Amino acid sequence: MTKLQWGMIGGGEGSQIGPAHRLGAGLDGLFKFTAGALDHRPEEGIGYGRRLGLGDRAYGSWQDMLAGEKAQDNPIDIVTVATPNSTHFEITKAFLEGGFHVLCEKPMTMTVEEGEEIVKIARATGKICAVNYGYSGYSLVRHMKAMIARGDLGKIRLVNAEFAHGHHADAADADNPRVRWRYDPAQAGVSAQFADCGIHALHMASFVTGQDVTKLSADTVSCIDVRVLEDDAMVNFRMDGGTVGRLWTSSIAIGRQHGLGIQVFGEKGGLRWSQEQPNQLYYMPLGERLQVIERGEANLSPEADRTSRVTIGHAEGMPLAFANIYTDLAEAIWARKDSRSIDPAADLYPRAEDGLRSMAAVFAVAQSGKEDGAWCDARPPMFR
Ligand code: NAI
Repeated sequence: MTKLQWGMIGGGEGSQIGPAHRLGAGLDGLFKFTAGALDHRPEEGIGYGRRLGLGDRAYGSWQDMLAGEKAQDNPIDIVTVATPNSTHFEITKAFLEGGFHVLCEKPMTMTVEEGEEIVKIARATGKICAVNYGYSGYSLVRHMKAMIARGDLGKIRLVNAEFAHGHHADAADADNPRVRWRYDPAQAGVSAQFADCGIHALHMASFVTGQDVTKLSADTVSCIDVRVLEDDAMVNFRMDGGTVGRLWTSSIAIGRQHGLGIQVFGEKGGLRWSQEQPNQLYYMPLGERLQVIERGEANLSPEADRTSRVTIGHAEGMPLAFANIYTDLAEAIWARKDSRSIDPAADLYPRAEDGLRSMAAVFAVAQSGKEDGAWCDARPPMFR
């Protein structure tokens, strides 16, 4: 099969998330890394792109890349946007309107209005606009979703999600420019920790339960007092299928590394999964013994089988979860090219609608935090 052509904006040398995208997109041989505007410094971006094999399709800016790819006989099929948050809207909008599919890093936009605009543009152009909630690509997260959808837990009563780390806990480092901007409303927007990490946990809660968040109440605090925006938040929420939600996110939780985890409790059983041990899923049917489901086991769900690559007992990790998002996207792009339908197990990548719902939740958390935990509507206006 011919490879799809993949481009990337941001993700330059030394960036945090660039390597995981290159590993993820390259893993299954479905995409060829063809074009990039990888750095905000044109010369560095071109130089690094050439070293990665992009030749004259290493561009100095995303504007040059958009013009250059539109002029190609064989342009890229999809572009990943892995630049800082405030640039996502402009770049995603321009590439969708230019006729390209887009995978945008989270948060998709800085405002709810921009999010609604992206959803409308994606719908009008018919282009794919995915958002990189990459942790939803883990095989056992897909399996959790499948178990819940087929009723193994019965009606879902409660979901408890968290994403806590301790990497911004040092008060002596709070003025470091690499940390400080994240808590400055002029640069980060209305929320810091919830917008950065909390939205991953909230997306995970919606993804596995298949329910959307309707309203929420938040307690937001800046534990390091020079900070304007929150470094810790506890959020209570409700979902449209009647599930009660709890979410904790923190950047001052010393000793926590990348503490993304989720627990789901239904009438007939409970499930528990953690990103730092992603190859095990804990399942307890009501009145029975606790079971450990291993990634790669026989007779799991189709969703788990297609997203598991190496045999049981060999750890799979985050770049492979990203690879599952890319595999979903390849399926979606080929389905459009060949006018064929997609296997539901391969149609699970996060969409612009998810990015928009996250942005509405970010603004609801900020509002609720200011109003002493008042319950706020967490739905974007276009979905009310
Ligand atoms: P970073 O600061 O480490 O790297 C950003 C890269 O983008 C740099 O190479 C920079 O030169 C480049 N860049 C900046 N402006 C550009 C422009 N106008 N044109 C082309 N390149 C440009 O940032 P990091 O941590 O890699 O984050 C990037 C995005 O990825 C953020 O939106 C962040 O929220 C998201 N992210 C997502 C994660 C996930 O799990 N889905 C994890 C980490 C980050």
